[in-house]
Amino acid sequence: MSENQATLNIDGKTIDLPVHSGTIGPDVIDVRKLYAQTGAFTYDPGFTSTASCDSAITYIDGDEGVLLHRGYPIGQLAENSSFMEVSYLLLNGELPSQAELDDFSRTITRHTMVHEQLSSFYSGFRRDAHPMAVMCGVVGALSAFYHDSTDIADPVLRKISSHRLIAKIPTIAAMAYKYSVGQPFVYPDNRLSYTGNFLRMTFAVPAEEYHVVPEVEKALDRIFILHADHEQNASTSTVRLAGSSGANPFACMAAGIACLWGPAHGGANEAALNMLREIGTPDRIQHYIDRAKDKNDPFRLMGFGHRVYKNYDPRATVMQSTVREVFQALNVTDPLFETALRLEEIALSDPYFVEKKLFPNVDFYSGIILSAIGFPTTMFTVLFALARTVGWVAQWNEMIADPGQKIGRPRQLYTGPTPRDYVPLAQR
Ligand code: ACO
Repeated sequence: MSENQATLNIDGKTIDLPVHSGTIGPDVIDVRKLYAQTGAFTYDPGFTSTASCDSAITYIDGDEGVLLHRGYPIGQLAENSSFMEVSYLLLNGELPSQAELDDFSRTITRHTMVHEQLSSFYSGFRRDAHPMAVMCGVVGALSAFYHDSTDIADPVLRKISSHRLIAKIPTIAAMAYKYSVGQPFVYPDNRLSYTGNFLRMTFAVPAEEYHVVPEVEKALDRIFILHADHEQNASTSTVRLAGSSGANPFACMAAGIACLWGPAHGGANEAALNMLREIGTPDRIQHYIDRAKDKNDPFRLMGFGHRVYKNYDPRATVMQSTVREVFQALNVTDPLFETALRLEEIALSDPYFVEKKLFPNVDFYSGIILSAIGFPTTMFTVLFALARTVGWVAQWNEMIADPGQKIGRPRQLYTGPTPRDYVPLAQR
């Protein structure tokens, strides 16, 4: 980190604050000593101007629509790589050799089964429970089953629990789906790829042969790549904050899943498809655009806008082309795709969306693909959680391995009552 300085005047006092530069991206003003030197805090609810950590995993330039994993552009990874390879890259920092990839894939494959006792957890849930609620519970429960790898001070155990999480999350997600539709759980088949295995565990039934459609497997694998990591977003920051106290990785992932479920974050893909269904036909689009622009109406165009991207989300570009590939492979069409394309066109020529730099995000088209593959909308965020697990795990490992790591403990601007004396109940 190269050093520069920023000068701050406060209450007639002048202090110098170090400014650090990363390899690319904005500089950061280091305010760690600010409170000790001035007695003041910085104030940044929503963290719009705050870097919470150092990280060498993912880089986003929101203005330019750039997303890099370990330096590699997301478009190149989505086009040429596989989810297993991207997972290796996120965890280890470099693309693997063939032998390293084979070894990694074998290790992940070996951990795909879950403890049989974990299956009985599912029957404690209502069949109509949202699968994200089930995911929060079951992933949180993993620490009760894999106690032997929860010592976070041991790098070998950290690696084992990381592999367990990445390997078991598709099994757990598929089981959540199977439980919701009342079908028997399907055990993993380790002859299949990571993504092929997940498709089979989700859609196969014991009564019939199941064949993975290669184009669908490829499309879903690409969707997983597009969701694998995204810098210090809300759920990743949740995982880091939970992990900063020394909590075990399974508990941290459950915290990440809980955060991801929100409609402003991972829940948006479900909300985007529901919105497209509500709009229905292109002739009704203008009405919804008008609602989105109306300050007195809470309605927002779901799948539009992003905290960081003030340009086209590069993941949305890949998603849009993947829709066509999946439709072709499955020989289906969905009139909602036409509605989505038209909605994008109308919104992007409307000054409201142009001025506010609101573009389609990754969630705008993903729902159409997932729906064509056969996933119900309630599973969309589960698939996001499945793919993001590797990002959470990589970020969690990076944080734990950092010798300067501290418990995350933000402060506040207090706006409550000033000190006052307790009033006995009889006098109130
Ligand atoms: N439709 C209509 N107006 C919008 C939208 C939208 N989708 N998104 C933002 N705006 C408007 C806001 O009303 C606000 O207007 P104002 O300045 O006149 O008050 C302005 O654009 C800025 O919006 P903020 O909410 O302040 O921006 P922020 O960065 O906090 O929010 C967010 C980003 C939450 C993603 C927002 O754009 C949104 O709610 N989008 C819809 C939900 C969505 O698609 N989420 C998925 C995000 S991607 C992901 O998690 C994988």
